[in-house]
Amino acid sequence: MRFNVLATLIGITIPQIALAIAPGPLSTSGRWIVDANGQNITFAGVNWPGASEAMLPEGLQYQSIENIVDKIKTLGMNVIRLTFAIEMIDDILETGRDVSIKDSLVKALGEKNGTKVFSNIVRHNPQFGVDTTRLQVKSLPAVKSVGMRNELRKAEDNPTLVNTTYNWRYWYRHMVENANQIHAANRNLLIYFSGLDYDTRLSPIPTGAELGNGTAFRKDDFEYADKIVLELHNYERTATSCEDLKSSLWNAGFNALDTQNSSIVNIMPVQMTEFGFPQDNTTYTDVYASCLREWLPSLQAGWMVWVIAGSYYIRKGIQDDDELWGESFSKTIREQTGN
Ligand SMILES: *[C@@H]1O[C@H](CO)[C@@H](O)[C@H](O)[C@H]1NC(C)=O
Ligand SMILES: *[C@@H]1O[C@H](CO)[C@@H](O)[C@H](O)[C@H]1NC(C)=O
Ligand SMILES: *[C@@H]1O[C@H](CO)[C@@H](O)[C@H](O)[C@H]1NC(C)=O
Ligand SMILES: *[C@@H]1O[C@H](CO)[C@@H](O)[C@H](O)[C@H]1NC(C)=O
Ligand SMILES: *[C@@H]1O[C@H](CO)[C@@H](O)[C@H](O)[C@H]1NC(C)=O
Ligand SMILES: *[C@@H]1O[C@H](CO)[C@@H](O)[C@H](O)[C@H]1NC(C)=O
Repeated sequence: MRFNVLATLIGITIPQIALAIAPGPLSTSGRWIVDANGQNITFAGVNWPGASEAMLPEGLQYQSIENIVDKIKTLGMNVIRLTFAIEMIDDILETGRDVSIKDSLVKALGEKNGTKVFSNIVRHNPQFGVDTTRLQVKSLPAVKSVGMRNELRKAEDNPTLVNTTYNWRYWYRHMVENANQIHAANRNLLIYFSGLDYDTRLSPIPTGAELGNGTAFRKDDFEYADKIVLELHNYERTATSCEDLKSSLWNAGFNALDTQNSSIVNIMPVQMTEFGFPQDNTTYTDVYASCLREWLPSLQAGWMVWVIAGSYYIRKGIQDDDELWGESFSKTIREQTGN
């Protein structure tokens, strides 16, 4: 059922937008992402979470990577947004080495369950073994882009820090510093800039407005001007007016797509890299889901729905916790289809 609901969403939106992506690096041209042949590319895809305690892409104890990727392609999608844990990177930097997926699972799930999930992963994905590390699982051949810190949030427990640092000037300083490092490490990657307030707001960026202390974002200041993409998230599921939703998203940063307005000094691709809702029988008919289903394809902006995983190795202390916003790999589906 959940699978069907998502398939419906995709069935309506895909035909006019998804194109296979040619090999080679991507770059931007005005508001478009273009492939190595100069063809416009519109991303249409899904988030594949891999950032929770086990720090592995979810679902591998039930399906092979090949099966999962095939299903995603069968839906007409052309992109996966794979999340990973900053803690994993910190770990690796601190200790100088990555840990095996078996050790990571045992740490997250306990000896007995961790070992069992590990052997199920290997049963479905025999290319992995006791020595396979987390990064080896994530080394995908077709990486085209990288995002920076996901959903910049306020340090709720430290109001002084929020007052002094949670602002656009700091955003600029740290985003640019990070983007410079990414570009130095790999000049081919698109670099995604996300917004404040859980990545719901990038409003001063398209207009190049003053960010404080004389700073303003000018795309052309950067050597990698043709690699910068803006990303926004939206979960305004209680929306009652599509017009209001569209207008707030436009003003929040989608207006960087506007090539006709001279106030938009930074014309760039903007994508909705997260939105989503429970995959039940009715929620997809709400204003929120119906509105985005029409609007995002009409902009040819690019989007990635939350989420492909049907369950999590562990979430909020519950092992194999069902993801009601996910589909095909959920326990429910497995029970219904006997897989
Ligand atoms: C890409 O989009 C631009 C703007 O609409 C258009 O001028 C151009 O022809 C498109 N390129 C391709 C290859 O479709
Ligand atoms: C281990 O897995 C079993 C069955 O899959 C589950 O019932 C149990 O709660 C898990 N243990 C822990 C500590 O969560
Ligand atoms: C944070 O800034 C607000 C508004 O300027 C002020 O009212 C508040 O006292 C400040 N809080 C702290 C902890 O500095
Ligand atoms: C403001 O900018 C000036 C000139 O670049 C710099 O010297 C100063 O440290 C900045 N002030 C703050 C608070 O960042
Ligand atoms: C152009 O962009 C500016 C800044 O976002 C906005 O205030 C104005 O309404 C826009 N004009 C049109 C015609 O969309
Ligand atoms: C959704 O609809 C299907 C058939 O249309 C039905 O079998 C199923 O029980 C429904 N699920 C819920 C949660 O209402």
